[in-house]
Amino acid sequence: MLTTWIDDLSQKVPLSRQPQDLQAYGRDWTRVYVPRPSAVVFPRHPEEVCEVLRFCSERGIAVVPSGGRTGLSAGAVAAEGELVLSLERLRHLGEVDPLGLTLTVGAGITNQEVHQHSEKIGLTWPIDLASKGSCQVGGNLATNAGGIRVIRYGHARQWVTGLQVALIDGTLLKLGTAVQKDNVGPDLRQLMIGSEGILGVITQATLRLTIMPRECQVMFLAVDNIDRGLELLSHARLQGRLQLQAFEFVAQNCLEAVMKVQDRACPFAQIPPAAVLIEVEGRLDNELEQWMEQVMSQGLVRDGVLARSSTERASLWAYRDNITESLGSLGLMHKNDIAVEVGRLGEFVHTLLSEVAPHYPGQMYLFGHLGDGNLHINVMKPSAMDPETFWEGCQRADQLLYELLRNLNGSVSAEHGIGLLKKAALSFSRGPHEVDTVRRVKKALDPQGLLNPGKVFDL
Ligand code: FAD
Ligand code: LAC
Ligand code: ZN
Repeated sequence: MLTTWIDDLSQKVPLSRQPQDLQAYGRDWTRVYVPRPSAVVFPRHPEEVCEVLRFCSERGIAVVPSGGRTGLSAGAVAAEGELVLSLERLRHLGEVDPLGLTLTVGAGITNQEVHQHSEKIGLTWPIDLASKGSCQVGGNLATNAGGIRVIRYGHARQWVTGLQVALIDGTLLKLGTAVQKDNVGPDLRQLMIGSEGILGVITQATLRLTIMPRECQVMFLAVDNIDRGLELLSHARLQGRLQLQAFEFVAQNCLEAVMKVQDRACPFAQIPPAAVLIEVEGRLDNELEQWMEQVMSQGLVRDGVLARSSTERASLWAYRDNITESLGSLGLMHKNDIAVEVGRLGEFVHTLLSEVAPHYPGQMYLFGHLGDGNLHINVMKPSAMDPETFWEGCQRADQLLYELLRNLNGSVSAEHGIGLLKKAALSFSRGPHEVDTVRRVKKALDPQGLLNPGKVFDL
């Protein structure tokens, strides 16, 4: 009986069945599924994680690994009576190795805590995202998180030397160490990174750090459209010789949403059709100011703001960082997170706006990591429309979007993963042989299909 195994498990590890915990830990940032976990466990160290998994394996209990629950693809959702395995109490925070530039942390340490810890000695883990206060290192690695600095540093998988992973049978794997060079056959560590909790549970990671740039400058530039934004990207690199830390796109309605929800003034003389937020390495000097004047006099940029202090830099970033939260508080959103090669992004957006957008049942909001060819496409439910009609309309329009992406060799999920939400999209970016090969790996590691069942694909 249900109560029996829960009682048994609660003798081994901290466990909650409080309704508010079941609600909170049964979902991530998405609001599509109703959370219905049977219980939430809070192991305090890796061995307890193994104990829980071994218990689940012996009793045939489905288990959902749960990090900071900021995921945007419902990967951490428990809507089918699963046990939620929260990693939040794995709070080991090691010493930064100033010579090897590494840091070992428990899976439950937040992204922001890693930043704060390493910044004390001028280092950083360059995975930087707006959810950093809540998302955890384990979640960042399970999703191979991207964020605003991919243009400079790449995804999370490039910033890990060692990983500790618990398998469903309770085995604790130690994959890599703090050693940088270690070519000893196939790399299971990279297989686990980005596997969205379906192959193993990350309990600890040794992160690779890098030197923080001594200074960075932030500009917010008003542009006519995405094509101007892309020209500006090329100009910044080839003419301006700027070392870009971030190059982000904000459409007019996203800017307006942040201004409205957060009661922020327009940063420009008037609200532009679009804007690009650029962060560059280096000191504020004449060359940067001259570059700005040049792109304005060439008509690439309509208006621009250059931050002159750390407070101004933070307040410019706020227009970009708060888009997801602001849109969320204005209404129900259908989300896509796509990428194409940067050189084809202009072509993609033209077809999107002319041929796909009219099929969505609501207004489209575009923003994202322009420099990486990655756009977040949000569609807002009209207030008069019932949610079911809205989701169905969005799913129909998604087929057109995914066809367009397939034709451009694009990605149906640039950084948020597949989870539950994007399962129907997987075949547009991955061939059947590739999916089947991963399915075979899954079956070898988790023959009963107990670890995050139903996520990414069905067995
Ligand atoms: P969760 O949401 O808890 O889980 C995500 C997935 O990982 C689930 O499948 C879960 O089962 C699995 N998982 C979690 N922990 C573990 C573990 N220890 N072991 C095994 N599996 C585990 N993402 C980006 O890539 N770039 C962005 O710029 C970005 N910006 C965001 C901004 C906002 C405002 C929000 C709300 C989200 C944003 N995200 C972004 C999405 C999200 O923050 C990332 O996907 C993040 O890496 C998820 O971490 P988490 O700890 O919250 O994971
Ligand atoms: C961002 C999230 C949505 O870039 O990925 O803000
Ligand atoms: Zn993003």
